[in-house]
Amino acid sequence: MKKILVTGGTGYIGSHTVVELQNAGYEVLIIDNLSNSNVEVLDGIEKITGIRPAFYELDLNDKAGVQAVLEANPGIKGIIHFAASKAVGESVHKPLLYYRNNLVTLINLLELMPEHGIDGIVFSSSCTVYGQPDILPVTEDAPIKPAMSPYGNTKQINEEIIRDCIHANMPIKSIILRYFNPIGAHPSTEIGELPNGVPQNLVPFVTQTAIGMRKELSVFGDDYDTPDGSCIRDYINVVDLAKAHVIAMDRMLENKSAEKLEIFNLGTGIGVSVLELIRTFEKGTGVKVPYKIVGRREGDIEKVWANPHHANTVLGWTAKESVEDTLVSAWEWQKRLVKRGS
Ligand code: WQD
Repeated sequence: MKKILVTGGTGYIGSHTVVELQNAGYEVLIIDNLSNSNVEVLDGIEKITGIRPAFYELDLNDKAGVQAVLEANPGIKGIIHFAASKAVGESVHKPLLYYRNNLVTLINLLELMPEHGIDGIVFSSSCTVYGQPDILPVTEDAPIKPAMSPYGNTKQINEEIIRDCIHANMPIKSIILRYFNPIGAHPSTEIGELPNGVPQNLVPFVTQTAIGMRKELSVFGDDYDTPDGSCIRDYINVVDLAKAHVIAMDRMLENKSAEKLEIFNLGTGIGVSVLELIRTFEKGTGVKVPYKIVGRREGDIEKVWANPHHANTVLGWTAKESVEDTLVSAWEWQKRLVKRGS
């Protein structure tokens, strides 16, 4: 059985990916410092797959600690690296926390891979590296624009670190996955998004407003150059996204590609505005979402959606779930959280 390390595996995308890796027959080991997730997520994973992943509560900045985990678990063939600080707004106020955490943790992993025979790393990147694309839908060869935040800059620098290591002929391979906007929850409602405090992202704020935890949703601007004036994004179902990681890991470990570095956009190819998302949520759930239009949020780009052709044809992966069904899954998860009292 192929053994995989998933960093950040108790996080939102990480936990859904662990489930799909286990479903595909991988043995999964998680390192997570629980700074933005909680250990009960392991119970949720086990309820879905019947397999409790090995778990090490550890900060990846502790290189000796990571070394010890790898020595205690020989035979790891690949890494999926999710662990990172990811709040765009926070990164503007705490740049050094973001540069240290998001860069040093990747460097530690890359340094340790060759000595432990770890062949490949799947890296969790983001469409944020494109900034506001000049051409939409955006393809992988679109120019990388100056980052709009330290968070986005760390994603760009991480990609360059990986590219330079491979160019230096380090004995590793990598697939970089640029996510668009992951939303929704596992259909079992055993795992889903667990925002810390007031949600920064749109969909958890929508579901918390719909359930009455928030008075109303603030829509950050309706004066953009879009059909209804609100920002457009490419919202992708988190389980669809997780499945792409399994395909990417298979591709690397089974040497399906002569390339040592590949980059893929993971999106639906469909742009949805904030106001359209609210209407779609209301249609799918039958629940009203009170909202008000407020000023623009600093750092927001106007519109971005993927051209997913490269992933569709080369990976053989396509996003399957509709935004409506995905929003219903987010709603089911929100109701479950309230029932659990969390
Ligand atoms: C989506 C749209 C907001 C909240 C960021 C990161 C990206 C990834 C996902 C980490 C925007 C609008 C939001 C609200 C609103 N993060 N909005 N009211 O900013 O596209 O992407 O999160 O991996 O890298 O850049 O996602 O969900 O915050 O915003 O009107 O209360 O919803 O203006 O247009 P974003 P988001």
